[in-house]
Amino acid sequence: TVHERVDTFHDNDQKPVGYGRMLRKEDPRFLRGRGRYVDDVQLPGMLHLAILRAPVAHARIVSIDTSAAEASPGVRAVVTGAMLAQQGLAWMPTLSNDVQAVLATDKVRFQGQEVAFVVADDRYAARDALELIDVEYDVLDPVIDARRALEPDAPLIRDDLEGKANNHCFDWETGDEAATEAVFARADVVVSQDLVYPRVHPAPMETCGAVADFDAVDGKLRLWSTTQAPHAHRTLYAIVAGIPEHKIQVISPDIGGGFGNKVPIYPGYVCAIVASIVTGKPVKWMEDRSENLISTGFARDYIMRGEIAATRDGRILGIRTNVLADHGAFNGTAAPVKYPAGFFGVFTGSYDIEAAYCRMTAVYTNKAPGGVAYACSFRITEAVYLVERIVDCLADELGMDPAELRLKNFIQPEQFPYTTKTGWVYDSGNYEPTMRLAMDMAGYAELRREQEEKRARGELMGIGIAFFTEAVGAGPRKNMDILGLGMADGCELRVHPTGKAVVRLSVQSQGQGHETTFAQIVAEEIGIPPSDIEVLHGDTDNTPFGLGTYGSRSTPVSGAAAALVARKVRDKARIIASGMLEVSVADLEWEKGAFHVKGDPGTSVTIQDIAMRAHGAGDLPEGIEGGLEAQICYNPSNLTYPHGAYICVVDIDPGTAQVKVRRFIAVDDCGTRINPMIIEGQVHGGLTDGVGMALMEMIAFDEDGNCLGASLMDYLIPTSLEVPDWETGFTVTPSPHHPIGAKGVGESATVGSPPAIVNAVVDALKPFGVRHADMPLTPSRVWDAMRGQARPP
Ligand code: CDP
Repeated sequence: TVHERVDTFHDNDQKPVGYGRMLRKEDPRFLRGRGRYVDDVQLPGMLHLAILRAPVAHARIVSIDTSAAEASPGVRAVVTGAMLAQQGLAWMPTLSNDVQAVLATDKVRFQGQEVAFVVADDRYAARDALELIDVEYDVLDPVIDARRALEPDAPLIRDDLEGKANNHCFDWETGDEAATEAVFARADVVVSQDLVYPRVHPAPMETCGAVADFDAVDGKLRLWSTTQAPHAHRTLYAIVAGIPEHKIQVISPDIGGGFGNKVPIYPGYVCAIVASIVTGKPVKWMEDRSENLISTGFARDYIMRGEIAATRDGRILGIRTNVLADHGAFNGTAAPVKYPAGFFGVFTGSYDIEAAYCRMTAVYTNKAPGGVAYACSFRITEAVYLVERIVDCLADELGMDPAELRLKNFIQPEQFPYTTKTGWVYDSGNYEPTMRLAMDMAGYAELRREQEEKRARGELMGIGIAFFTEAVGAGPRKNMDILGLGMADGCELRVHPTGKAVVRLSVQSQGQGHETTFAQIVAEEIGIPPSDIEVLHGDTDNTPFGLGTYGSRSTPVSGAAAALVARKVRDKARIIASGMLEVSVADLEWEKGAFHVKGDPGTSVTIQDIAMRAHGAGDLPEGIEGGLEAQICYNPSNLTYPHGAYICVVDIDPGTAQVKVRRFIAVDDCGTRINPMIIEGQVHGGLTDGVGMALMEMIAFDEDGNCLGASLMDYLIPTSLEVPDWETGFTVTPSPHHPIGAKGVGESATVGSPPAIVNAVVDALKPFGVRHADMPLTPSRVWDAMRGQARPP
């Protein structure tokens, strides 16, 4: 169901734009199985690489014997950490200024860590030889629980770091502690709640992999890899490996889903590069599903305490939180250097409050590295979950309707741009209409009546609300960089003589439809049909530098770059048109696709005429060079702050504790909407992620550190059977600083839906006196919640 209602329009020269539901340009390729993914790359003489992984979570390596593996048929090379160490390549920097072992030399620090690799003629020979490598381990006590990590007698994980005496990773705080203390002291009501956001995995359909091809003659390395940030990866490879940057080409071809999983540089990529250099042949490495689930970028793993202070009549005064963050064995998070906890600073949500404070401690544990932002702007998912759960706890305490409590505390439209109590500047927002639309679509009052009747009959029905504000679109570059690389994006647009065009982006699509939407943006600005505009991305030799796609930053940053580069081309086209029509530029009017003389619409030239003239014979106006192209690097002045109102309705079977999501209403506001069909797809996918996290997904470990989520048999992800027919709607509050008013949307639904679902489940369990239950709300957890705090309905 789609409810279309536009509540806010552009009111300046960016009139409502004609973006629309264009079918995806990339779909003919994908639907016919003609996509070209990393594993489709076949090069002459290509060898295959397989990685030996640690069977235990924490152990000293006593010895490694590779002789039997080397003698195995088809094996070309066997490489250990000790061999890499001789070249200074055993360790690599992470995107968080930590270091991570490419292959373990001293100890293994998580189950699944890379210990050695084999290169062989085919994948089977490589895998068979792995079993012939004999590693002797001296097993050590592991640290699995983040709370255990800080105990004085906890085993030390990172003894590779000089002077490191404990498992502490970093501390971080934001907000005003004293001011928050003061509002809590004078509040009528204070509610606190412990919450766990469990470790989950982005689990893209395509696992990670690479094909490395080092040409010893011209010294050039070509690397096809599953990366969401090809340019940033190239620069880092150049710095680490010492290969000149212009001699490295990173190609990120079609990508089968990223969701943050493909942002970090994984040891496997580096192993493939080393293997190609050592063997002189192209080398392919492709993870299997288990390798992906146990060793690459996990997300979340936050233990939080949320506290909220309010007046008796429901005015929220302050929010305070304390977080223990589990970063695994190596801190592999990608987050702007100045924000080690990412954008957790927006934990104050959509509410106009007086004070806020957050303190966080991060630790190392014997688990896979990461803290990647899974469909999330660097920890925003955790922040939204925290605030939207504790607001519900407050509503429960006050005996107030959770919708009413939210409506009462929203930041008001005239308060934008709004500086939060932790210093972020929300660019624009108009929250009440979004909330009201969601309530209308849900039939909120009617649902509450239905719930009352059902409760009287002993049936368990819950209604959950979440209202989120997100921060997406990192930079600006002065505030945000990853390892010193500023978060800005380049864009180039070239119009060919016949009026067709090519736009080159620094961001990289992983299935979000960029080939369509970026063509639409350029088309809107320059009047060339989207079908005549080719979008190129994901190849560092053919696209301008920029920091890549994650945290829904493509539209806020590169989308702005695409609009601005098109306007730059249009400005040049205007001057050429003035020459063609023999009038001054001031006498020209732009109408999508053509300039005409003011007051004389019949006298005009199209953009196609101008393109031919720009490349053709004859003089151009003075000072104008031939060709019709431009290039820019866009540095956003702020993030964009999309918002949304989500309402979830669940039924719980009292006999089995099975939760069924019966309805889900999602109203998103991402400013100007470029392609509503693609946005809906993004929202549907994100909501499905939310059902997974709220009800099914968790990467758990046993006390020895064995990963219990190593296959999709154990790590459950939702299918169409577990999700309802999504009901989506939207409002439009443009971003004031984005050239077309667009905000990001890709991750919104993943961020906003888990608290709505958990709030609904807790609401259903109210008759049992339940105020909170941690995700994932599996039948056994719901059953425990029902029995643990049983109170007769
Ligand atoms: O960075 P990522 O592409 O993952 O996220 P995004 O910028 O939110 O964009 C996701 C997809 O939705 C892209 O194809 C966008 O062009 C499209 N989109 C849109 O049509 N209108 C918006 N206001 C935001 C995104």
